[in-house]
Amino acid sequence: MFDVDKIRADFPLLSRKLGDHQLVYFDNAATTQKPLPVIRAMATFYQENNANIHRGIHTLSTEATAAYENVRRNIAEIIGLDPTNNKDALQSVVFTSGTTDSINLVAYAWGMKFIEAGDEIILSEEEHHSNIIPWQLITTYKNANLRFIPINSNGELDLTAYKQLFTSKTKFVSLSAMSNVFGLLNPIAELTRVAHEHGVPILLDAAQAMAHYMIDVKTVDCDFLAFSAHKMLGPTGVGVLYGKPELLDKMSPFRGGGEMISQVGLHRSSWADLPYKFEAGTMNIAGVVGYGAAIDYLCSFNSGEVYEYEKMLTNYAYRKLDELKGVTVYGTDKNRIGVIAFNVDNVHCHDLAQFMDSKAIAIRAGHHCAQPLMEVLGVPATARISLYFYNTIEEIDYFIDMVKEARAFFG
Ligand SMILES: Cc1ncc(COP(=O)(O)O)c(C=O)c1O
Repeated sequence: MFDVDKIRADFPLLSRKLGDHQLVYFDNAATTQKPLPVIRAMATFYQENNANIHRGIHTLSTEATAAYENVRRNIAEIIGLDPTNNKDALQSVVFTSGTTDSINLVAYAWGMKFIEAGDEIILSEEEHHSNIIPWQLITTYKNANLRFIPINSNGELDLTAYKQLFTSKTKFVSLSAMSNVFGLLNPIAELTRVAHEHGVPILLDAAQAMAHYMIDVKTVDCDFLAFSAHKMLGPTGVGVLYGKPELLDKMSPFRGGGEMISQVGLHRSSWADLPYKFEAGTMNIAGVVGYGAAIDYLCSFNSGEVYEYEKMLTNYAYRKLDELKGVTVYGTDKNRIGVIAFNVDNVHCHDLAQFMDSKAIAIRAGHHCAQPLMEVLGVPATARISLYFYNTIEEIDYFIDMVKEARAFFG
């Protein structure tokens, strides 16, 4: 049975008090808190196994390399690959520093090689800046163009418009699997199918989605998948890029340095095999080990139960907020998980976040790194709560009471 009290006991930070109040952490879309197994795994690594990987013959280096590579296998497994099949799985999982880094890797390494003047790349209006700026940079270098899928009044991607955006010049599609503002899960298999119908590869930004469900890359058939450890209980500074090996193979390295080479001469060099071609320099080894512990921890629960619990919390919070007079909630409640952006009439969202902080509730206020979406919504900023499976109904009730208090306080 899903036991939230037992789960909360694994997260030391959740027992913290701010002033007289018990902390309520509702900023999980920004980063999640870390359970003891993750904190301990990283401490143990530094205490017992710390060494650089892939280089040493000594025991510590062999242990560190095994720990690091073992996490690659675990990641391959959670995204639906066969972890024992090198070609299929291990060569297609690249460690990065996060979703942003993964998207930049594809934008440069794929874009530099395959985008030409006049080509088009399809994004959407709801993308996080991490899935806009790398493409703006590459289209500027290459004199290419960006096209954007509009959102409808429910905050959903307009699929009819998406299909009409394809032209003979479309070379790439890059879309979020889940909006960090609306919390809506996008129909990623359908988005991928349409891109492939036009012979165009697609990257899915799963920074938010992977926190709530594991995307099976074989079923969805996406060409690239980008996600971050820190949004799914792991440490900051670690991320993943999944890419189909046949595409990664054709791409030139994104960064040069140690570890990504096969042979180096003064004027010419050759590259290491996948995935090391894309892992230049010393990686965040302890972070990867911590991420492995986060995956083990997540996998120790029944994923269906966790998802249902998060869905129940999300529906409850959505309904309670939506019932409040003078509160605007953005986007439909269908296909929503975890994230709710809203505004309270006559209360600036920064003032609201400050007020909430004084009540020990951590919420987000701002443009959520989605300024183009704010423009579409016609607001400069919103407040946002984002829930995870260690949050509770009692916390939501307290938060709703505090929204009412804030409304009264600010008049
Ligand atoms: C949808 C989305 N994409 C990308 C990112 C960037 O993730 P990171 O900062 O871990 O690179 C975020 C972070 O909030 C996000 O929500």
